[in-house]
Amino acid sequence: APPITVRSLSEAIGMKVGELSKRLVKETNKLYAVNSPVEFEVAELIAIEKGITLKLKERETAESKVLDKYKKRAEEMDPALAVTRPPIVTIMGHVDHGKTTLLDKIRQEYGIKSDVVSTEAGGITQVIRAWQVEKDGNHVTFLDTPGHEAFTKMRARGAKVTDIVVIVVAATDGVMPQTEEAISHAKAADVDIIVAINKIDMPNANVDKTRRQLYQLELLPDNMGGDVPFVETSATTGQGISELLEQVLLVAELADPPLKADPQHPGSGTCLEAYQDSDEGVKATLIVQQGTLHKGDILLCGSTFGRVRAMYNDMGVQIDEAGPSTPVKVTGLDEVPDADDPFYVVEDLSTAREIAEVRKSSRQRSALSSFTPISLDTFNAAK
Ligand code: GTP
Ligand code: MG
Repeated sequence: APPITVRSLSEAIGMKVGELSKRLVKETNKLYAVNSPVEFEVAELIAIEKGITLKLKERETAESKVLDKYKKRAEEMDPALAVTRPPIVTIMGHVDHGKTTLLDKIRQEYGIKSDVVSTEAGGITQVIRAWQVEKDGNHVTFLDTPGHEAFTKMRARGAKVTDIVVIVVAATDGVMPQTEEAISHAKAADVDIIVAINKIDMPNANVDKTRRQLYQLELLPDNMGGDVPFVETSATTGQGISELLEQVLLVAELADPPLKADPQHPGSGTCLEAYQDSDEGVKATLIVQQGTLHKGDILLCGSTFGRVRAMYNDMGVQIDEAGPSTPVKVTGLDEVPDADDPFYVVEDLSTAREIAEVRKSSRQRSALSSFTPISLDTFNAAK
């Protein structure tokens, strides 16, 4: 595929070249001429702000053919074997409106307890930004996303991980800019939305005003002809937390298409985050979306590969297998994958290595070609 240039991107997303150039400088700290190639990831981020999803035309290479097989396999499901999987939930909202406190409270009250002592190296359970809770025998997976950007990027890549977004709005503040942003992202990603009006224990909480502001953004509860559950919560006292989980389970039950996966499938899903550990090598947090991931499986994850050497659950306990909607931390990949990289279990190490190598080299090439810095003069001349 021809590279994306400033000009072609400008035409594709309907943003003036001048405005786009300024935006690019802000994003990358580099100057671009009209015909400069724009790195795909930068282009997709800018496009997404305009509500446009860019798709890379994949080259018809041996790589994509082999990969297609795994992608298809990940999508296929034997309806007879498919079982209901836990919903995957992300909490979003304006800064300080109580996302972290709410997540902590949910985990405190409904986190799955384990008698097994953490077996993670050093005995310290590292914070995994994804974990499961249990209410009345039903599991819910929560993702503690670093912010809107990750969500935007995920959406741009079509890697839909979240089933339900909980929009947290503090009743003390009402709807704020990031609340609106979160709502538009959730709507664009076509996920189910639940509203948590938080901080209702505060004397200056104004629940009615907050509700009205949300109605104006077309988030309507069922008694107003909408389908968005509203729950009033206090992350500090715990009020409304149980109702919030009940609503999550209700929305999950009614999800269309149903939240199902086939645990007998080879595992596939998305990398949530990864880093290099000085003792154990690469550690990657993955969320299994289809099938079951086993210790010993051969993984292809973005342009990295390896055999799952050890696998830990969200309590740092070693496990041998992880089914749909389960977040796990694995070791064994050769390099640090990117957050949002999809992963697939593949048949043999040589296939995994081959695809990973092709991807690595094509990534290096595109990184080189997109970052040819140009002088300010050329930039001005181009305008
Ligand atoms: P960022 O991660 O910075 O975007 O903020 P956040 O949305 O995670 O908010 P956080 O949970 O850090 O809460 C911000 C402050 O509000 C903290 O001091 C919390 O203790 C407080 N807070 C959160 N929820 C409630 C609540 O329901 N009631 C009261 N009284 N305080 C709350
Ligand atoms: Mg926080």
